[in-house]
Formats: sequence, C-alpha cells, structure tokens
Amino acid sequence: MRVLSGTKPTGDLLHLGNYFGALRQFVALQEKYDDALYFVADYHSMTSVRDAAVRRRYSQNVALDYLAAGLDPARAILFRQSDIPEVCELSWLLTSVTPMGMLERAHAYKAAMDRAESVDHGLFTYPVLMAADILLYHSDIVPVGQDQKQHLEMTRDIAQRFNHTYDCEALILPEPYTLDDTAAVPGTDGQKMSKSYGNTIQMFAPNKQLKKSVMSIVTDSTPVECSKDPKAVVFQIWDLFASETERAEMAERAAAGGLGYGEVKKDILERLLAYFAPMRERREAFEARPDDVEDILRAGGEKARAIARPVLDGCREAAGLGPPR
Ligand code: ADP
Ligand code: TRP
Repeated sequence: MRVLSGTKPTGDLLHLGNYFGALRQFVALQEKYDDALYFVADYHSMTSVRDAAVRRRYSQNVALDYLAAGLDPARAILFRQSDIPEVCELSWLLTSVTPMGMLERAHAYKAAMDRAESVDHGLFTYPVLMAADILLYHSDIVPVGQDQKQHLEMTRDIAQRFNHTYDCEALILPEPYTLDDTAAVPGTDGQKMSKSYGNTIQMFAPNKQLKKSVMSIVTDSTPVECSKDPKAVVFQIWDLFASETERAEMAERAAAGGLGYGEVKKDILERLLAYFAPMRERREAFEARPDDVEDILRAGGEKARAIARPVLDGCREAAGLGPPR
C-alpha cells in the first residue's frame, strides 16, 4: 500500500490545526505503511503566491516543517513537486478526459466565483493537477482533510475515465480516505483555525508571539468562582496537550468553579512549548543545514521520479503518444 500527500507552500509557519489535523497523522502513516511519499506542492502555490522569492521561502518552510514533525527520509520519500515535471504531462493527458462540468462544481473555483474574484485557468484546473499528483505514483491512500475530499473523488473519477477511454489499466484508483476529523482545531476566535482567518497559533513562532496568540483565545466573562463550560474554546485547545485522564479532571475543575481562564491559558502555553520543543530543536538544526535539506529533497525527487516515469510511460503508450513501439 502506498501513501501519498502534499502540502501547498502558501504560508509562513504551520499552525496547530495543520499539525493535529494533518501532519501528525502523516507521521503516523509513515510508520503504518511501508511506502509513503510526501511532497511540497509548489506548482499548486502558483495560483496564489506570485513572488518567486516568497515561494522559495514558503517551500523551504514546508520541507522544514515536515522534517521537524518527524517525517523521516529513511522511511518516507520527501520531495518537491516541481522536481518531477512528468506531473505536468500527466496533467495534460488527464485534462482531455475531464468534463468542464466537473471542474465547474469544484469548491475552490466556486468559492472564488462567489467572491467575484478574477479566476485564472490554473485555479480552475487545479483538481486535474491534484489528480495527476496522486495518479502519477499509483497511490493507494491519500490522507487529506474534509475540505479535500471532493478532489479525491474527482481523482477517482478522472482515473476511471482515462482507463475507460483508452481501454487500459494504466492508472490505479486511490481509496476514499479522510483524515481523522476529531482533531478539528478551533482558532483563537472560536472559528476553525485557518491562516485565512488570522486566528492561528503557530507552533514554531517565537515565544513572545506564541504567548500573545494564546492569551488572545476568546473567553466569556464568567467570573473565576463560577462554573465554566468544559467545551469552551480555551479548553478545547488545552485538551490537545492533555491525556484522557487529565481532560476528565480539567472538565471537573471547570464545572466546579474557581478556575480562571488565565490559569488555563498559562498552562496551554507551558504545555505547548514543552510539546513542540523537540520538534523546534529539530527544525532549528535542519534550518542551520540548508544543504542537507536540499540533499534530502533531491534524493527524494529521484526516487519519486523513478516511480513516476513508468506510470507516465504506461499512459502515453495507452493513449498512442510518442513513437510506435
Ligand atoms: P489553512 O486553513 O490554514 O489554509 P490548509 O488548508 O493549508 O490550512 O490546511 C492543510 C491541511 O491541514 C488541511 O488539509 C487540513 O487537513 C488541516 N487543517 C487545517 N486547519 C485545520 C484545523 N483547524 N483543524 C484540523 N485540521 C486542519
Ligand atoms: N490540495 C491540497 C491542499 O490544498 C494539497 C495537495 C496538492 C495534495 N496535491 C495533492 C494533497 C495531492 C494530497 C494529494 O491541502
């Protein structure tokens, strides 16, 4: 079984939602399956990031975050999407079996249309490139969040259409799979944590900034002595860093009254710093050795390409492209 997933380099630093919602599970899956590929989706960032230097910085950050979180180049293939240009060719082959109607129903495109933004062709065709990312490596399991589920369904549909059109089995359909959603992390304002909402707590931010974010978690004006809702945002965030038993104890303390939100926030900060300390150290160590990170990506790229080439050749052959054999 082969696992594959990618992360778009579109922001500066990872937040708790990305970690608990995705990255932590990527690390677990690299242990569970013998074959895992994780990539920096830099081609995908082109629809939103328009500055070359910024893209490079964001891409480097995703690679560092992967390594810091525990993705291990000895167990998983870590690579940069744009090091495997075959993905663009497969993407083209797939476009001609992808109905316009399917792309018109894609959430990202519809949302941009609703916001009356000017939409470029890259954004419109983005699900096809994502399908190519997945199909090029004959991926079986693609861990993605709920928001990406539709893209995975489209990928299966596109693969089926290609195989049917050319009466071949050149492409393998990935299994439907979504990440464990129980980890949906609320942001400091109580909405889903997202960089688009400016409500994130960034796991590798400087301590001062982290403190500021944690202190800004919304609370109501219930006085200290009164009973608190154990489902309040501040407790949901605290829970991320606590054991089952600790959570039960905290819920009791909240209900009993006498617990101030300030105390809980202070404890979140302490736990958060301790929790991410080993990862932060690992990140800093890799950050100081950019050549090593580059070597890891390059070596990963070569391995990924060795998987990709025969798959693309199979598709070319099935579609009657290139010189006759
Ligand atoms: P953002 O919403 O900050 O732009 P992304 O869309 O880049 O985040 O998220 C990358 C992945 O991280 C998603 O596919 C999703 O699985 C996970 N993720 C993001 N935010 C959260 C959250 N608040 N709770 C749980 N998982 C999240
Ligand atoms: N579209 C995904 C996201 O926004 C990132 C991504 C690109 C991806 N290609 C992929 C994820 C292939 C899984 C498989 O989060």
